[in-house]
Amino acid sequence: MTAHKLTARDRLIVALDVDSAAAAGELVKLTASAVGVFKIGLQLFVKEGPDLVRWLVDQGVGVFLDLKLHDIPNTILAAARQIAGLGVRYFTVHCSNGQQALAACQAGLAEFCAEQGLTPPTMLGVTVLTSLSDVDLHGIGMLGDPRSQVELLAGQAYRAGLRGLVASAQEAAALRALFPDVFIVTPGIRPSGSGRDDQARIMTPAAAIHAGADALVIGRPVTRAGDPARAAAGILSEIEGALAASK
Ligand code: C5P
Repeated sequence: MTAHKLTARDRLIVALDVDSAAAAGELVKLTASAVGVFKIGLQLFVKEGPDLVRWLVDQGVGVFLDLKLHDIPNTILAAARQIAGLGVRYFTVHCSNGQQALAACQAGLAEFCAEQGLTPPTMLGVTVLTSLSDVDLHGIGMLGDPRSQVELLAGQAYRAGLRGLVASAQEAAALRALFPDVFIVTPGIRPSGSGRDDQARIMTPAAAIHAGADALVIGRPVTRAGDPARAAAGILSEIEGALAASK
């Protein structure tokens, strides 16, 4: 799906970072009128597995399986094939797998989906986690600033054929300028007035859209809100406002 065809609702991705299928189902029921895509990450996948992914796909919403694959090329491609079989719309791999591994996964996945008659999910390359600050990055030996690290990793992914990236909204404008045709997904979004939790590089929904993000991943500001339906509807109208203003 190309970004310009997406509705505002498709651009709101809610991270179902909860412990059970029951809690996830409740959140989906409460928020699906405002949310086009739900993200299942490690916490929920480890507990509930592929059955929950299939259930969510059957609800007719977009599913983003965020397992952030990072492994040897053969293992990544094998996992990506299994993910494609689940019918999800997006899944993540770390760009730091390297250009060759990413290219092999992208090509192998396309071939597998063509053989099986499956719609290939969009493989999103994770650049630098939004929880990492400059100090954290220096601590793990990344001596450049986060933005150059993001651009370096994004370049590797782009040359490998990926056309989707995950990056903080603070890097979205630079990535948009460098790679105009890439679908940019940004976590680390905090509507004004909500706390930052453990996220270091944050932005409001409207500012992220103005910076060039195509879709926003939002977890705790919705999932831990007293009224998740109202929180999601508020974020959706902020996205709609930002899209209308940038036309
Ligand atoms: O609760 P919060 O809005 O911080 O949730 C953000 C979600 O996005 C989490 O599920 C987290 O794993 C994910 N994510 C992230 N930074 C990335 C990639 C994914 O925060 N670079």
